[in-house]
Amino acid sequence: MVSANDVRAKYLQFFKDRGHIKIPSALLVPENDPTTLFTSSGMQPLVQNLLGQPHPAGKRLVNSQKCFRAQDIDEVGDNRHTTFFEMLGNWSLGDYFKEEQLAWFYEFLTKELKLPEEKLAVSVFEGDNQIPRDEESAAIWKKLGVPKNRIFYYGVKKNWWSRSGVPESMPAGEPGGPDSEVFYEFTDIKHNPKFGDQCHPNCDCGRFLEIGNSVFMQYQKQADSSFKELPQKNVDFGGGLERLTAAASDEPDIFQTDSFKQIIQTIEYVTQKKYVDHPQYMRIIADHIKAATFLISDGATPSNKAQGYMTRRLIRQAAVKLRQLQVDSQWHIEKICRSVIETYKNIYFKNLKYPEDIPDWISMETQKFSQTLDKGLKLLGQVSPFDLYQSYGFPPEVIEELYQEKGLKLNKEEFAKSRTRHQEESRTASQGMFKGGLQDQSEIVTKYHTATHLLHAALRKVLGNHVSQKGSNITADRLRFDFSHPEKLTDEQIKQVEDLINAKIAADVKVECVEMPKSQALAEGALAFFPEKYPDVTSVYTIDDFSKELCGGPHVQSTGEIGRIKITRQEAVSAGVRRIYATAIS
Ligand code: SER
Repeated sequence: MVSANDVRAKYLQFFKDRGHIKIPSALLVPENDPTTLFTSSGMQPLVQNLLGQPHPAGKRLVNSQKCFRAQDIDEVGDNRHTTFFEMLGNWSLGDYFKEEQLAWFYEFLTKELKLPEEKLAVSVFEGDNQIPRDEESAAIWKKLGVPKNRIFYYGVKKNWWSRSGVPESMPAGEPGGPDSEVFYEFTDIKHNPKFGDQCHPNCDCGRFLEIGNSVFMQYQKQADSSFKELPQKNVDFGGGLERLTAAASDEPDIFQTDSFKQIIQTIEYVTQKKYVDHPQYMRIIADHIKAATFLISDGATPSNKAQGYMTRRLIRQAAVKLRQLQVDSQWHIEKICRSVIETYKNIYFKNLKYPEDIPDWISMETQKFSQTLDKGLKLLGQVSPFDLYQSYGFPPEVIEELYQEKGLKLNKEEFAKSRTRHQEESRTASQGMFKGGLQDQSEIVTKYHTATHLLHAALRKVLGNHVSQKGSNITADRLRFDFSHPEKLTDEQIKQVEDLINAKIAADVKVECVEMPKSQALAEGALAFFPEKYPDVTSVYTIDDFSKELCGGPHVQSTGEIGRIKITRQEAVSAGVRRIYATAIS
C-alpha cells in the first residue's frame, strides 16, 4: 500500500525539480475572499494571479491545498467521494502550457507513481459553439503513447472548468477554460449494469477514478457573454491526493488508504463493528469528522452561521450515524477526532497551539445535539420528514430507516422532491457565491458589502485620497476592511467616518448600478480594488455622489437596508496598512 505522505512528497519534489516554487496551503475558510465560504480548489486563492497579477513566488507554483466541497456532502458513502480532501496542484501563470503540462503529469503518473499505462484513460474538450475542440491536447496525448481508444471527448459539463461551472453560468470577468482529465481504471471491478451497457471514464459505476485535471485557463467571460483570450495562458492543475494514492495502490476504495486507515480503525473500535459490514456508514462518519476537525482548526467552530453551520451539520450527521451503529456518540466521537489529528499530525497539526480544543469542540457539539436527537426521535411521525432532515440534521437514509423501524409510512416521492428542491437551491447558492463576487445566502453579507463601499468612501473623505483598499473580509457578524494609511485613527476621525456612513444610511440613498467601459469608469474616478480583474465593460455601483466603485455586486437596493454602522475595532496590519472592523446595528 502506497502512503499519501509519499505521494504528496513525490509530487511536490517532481514539480520543484521543474522550476516550481512551493506555496503554502491556504485556510479552508478563505481570509480575504468574501466571494466564497470555503476553499474548494487550489486555484481559488490564485484567481487574481490567473487574471494577470504577478505572484510574488513567480510563474511556476506547486502546493498541496486543503479543500472542502460542501456540494459533495450527499455523495459521501461510495468508494471515492469526500467533502474534505487534499488537492495537489501546479500552476503555470502565463509560462508553460499544454505540451509541458500533459507530458509532466503523464511522466509523474507512469514513472513516479508507476501506474501501468494500460490502466490510464484521458478525456479532452469536444468543443462548443464558441470554444474549439481541443485537438491539440488529444495530439499531445497520442504523442505520449495514449492509444486513440483511450482518449475520450466530452462537452462543457465534463471538460470545461471554472469556479462557477459551464461557460453559460459564468459571470463576466470570471476566468475558465477547457480541461483534460486523467482516469485510472480498476480492471478488477465489474461494471455495474445499473449504469447502462457502456462503461466509459465518466461512468459512475466506480470502475474509473478521476485522478487529475489539467485546466487550460486561457479565457475570460465578457459582459456580452463572449469569451476573450486572457493576456496570459495559464495551466491550473488539480489532483486529489487521496485518489492518486488509491490508484498508486490499485485500491478502489480511498477509505482503505492510509489517509483514512487509522480513522476507520478507530470507528471499528468504538462501534465494535467491522468496516466490511458497514462501509457506507463508516465512510460518512470518517469523512465528516475529518472535515469537521479541519474546519474547526481553520476557524469554523460549530455555530448557526455560514461556515460554522456546515461544521455543525457534519458533526450531527456523524453523530446520527454513530447512533445507528448503536454507539452513544457523545462519549466516543472525540476519539475519532483524535485519530484524524494523529493521521495528519506531522503535516497539518504540528504547529497548532491548542490541538486539544478540537476534540472538545466536537464532543461539546455532540452533547448538545444528543438532546435534539432525542427530541427528533420523539417527534418522528409528527413533523414532516423534510423537517427532520433540514431542521434536526437527520440524514435522509436514516429517516427512511427510522420510519421503517417504527412501521410508519413515508411518502418517499414527496420527500425526495423536497430534497431535490433543497439541493438545487444549495447548489445554486454555492455556485452563485462566485457570480457577482459576493452572494452569500444571508442578506446581512450583502448589507456589509454595501457598507464596505460606504466605509471606503468615508475614509477617503475624512483621511484623504491616499486611502485605498488593501483587502476586505465579510462574515455574518461584521465587516473587516484593510486600507492604506500611515497611522492610528483618532477617536474623532472614527466618529467622523461613522457619522458620514450613518448619514448616508439615514438618507436611504438608492444604490445604482450601471454598465460602462472600464476605461470610462476609471477616468470618472471610480474606485477599483483590482482594476485588472474587471472586464472591458464593467458594472459600476454608485451611491449618489458619495461613492463610485467597480464591483460585481450584489448590493442592497438602498442604503436604509443596512442599519446603523458602528466601528468596533482598529489595528495595524503592516507598515502603512490599517484594519477596521465594523458591525451593523439594526
Ligand atoms: N481547478 C481545477 C479543479 O478543481 C483544477 O485544479 O479541478
